Amino acid sequence: MNELSHISAVELNISCPNVKEGGMSFGISCPSAEAVTREVRKVCSKHLMVKLSPNVTDITEIARAVEGQGADSVSLVNTFLGMAIDSEKRIPLLSTITGGLSGPAIKPIALRMVWQVYNAVKIPVIGMGGIMNAADAIEFMLAGASAVQVCTAIFKDPFIPLQIIDGIEDYLIRHKLQSVNDLVGDLQM
Ligand SMILES: Cc1cc2nc3c(=O)[nH]c(=O)nc-3n(C[C@H](O)[C@H](O)[C@H](O)COP(=O)(O)O)c2cc1C
Repeated sequence: MNELSHISAVELNISCPNVKEGGMSFGISCPSAEAVTREVRKVCSKHLMVKLSPNVTDITEIARAVEGQGADSVSLVNTFLGMAIDSEKRIPLLSTITGGLSGPAIKPIALRMVWQVYNAVKIPVIGMGGIMNAADAIEFMLAGASAVQVCTAIFKDPFIPLQIIDGIEDYLIRHKLQSVNDLVGDLQM
């Protein structure tokens, strides 16, 4: 990927809860998060964004650990480990028994984690988790996200990112702001 000029960044996912080995297990302890970031940093000359798991006691410790190994930014959150059961058949609904929960249900927790990590590291934070519209995206930026990602909402409407961009532009005009950067971490306390 270092040779591919049209790829500007690599997102290192150390937080996938849907695979049996690797995945999330990399991202839920500081030593393993550090080790994988260090090894990837050695060979990756692109911007290295490390994607964090919310399934930890203190996400700021993991964020600081990967920052210490040369991550250029962190993205959060991946999905929360959840479970669903068919009570009539008395079986788990997921073949993996547990799996990742995303969408609006996780937004308040994701926002809290973005805010905590923003206050814990110096590198940029990319926020996600339940962003369904421009107002949600703006909340994440106010909590400290320099940029946002949208996943679940796209299953409902693949064009939702365009609406979100328009909505952010509207907000900037209404609030007489020059740039989205003026929103980042601008939470009035
Ligand atoms: C169906 C589905 C597949 C996903 N696959 C990946 C993946 O391959 N890699 C990854 O880093 N995150 C993956 N995620 C997590 C999302 O990128 C995102 O971190 C999470 O869903 C929270 O954002 P959202 O509420 O906007 O979906 C997936 C999420 C969903 C719902």
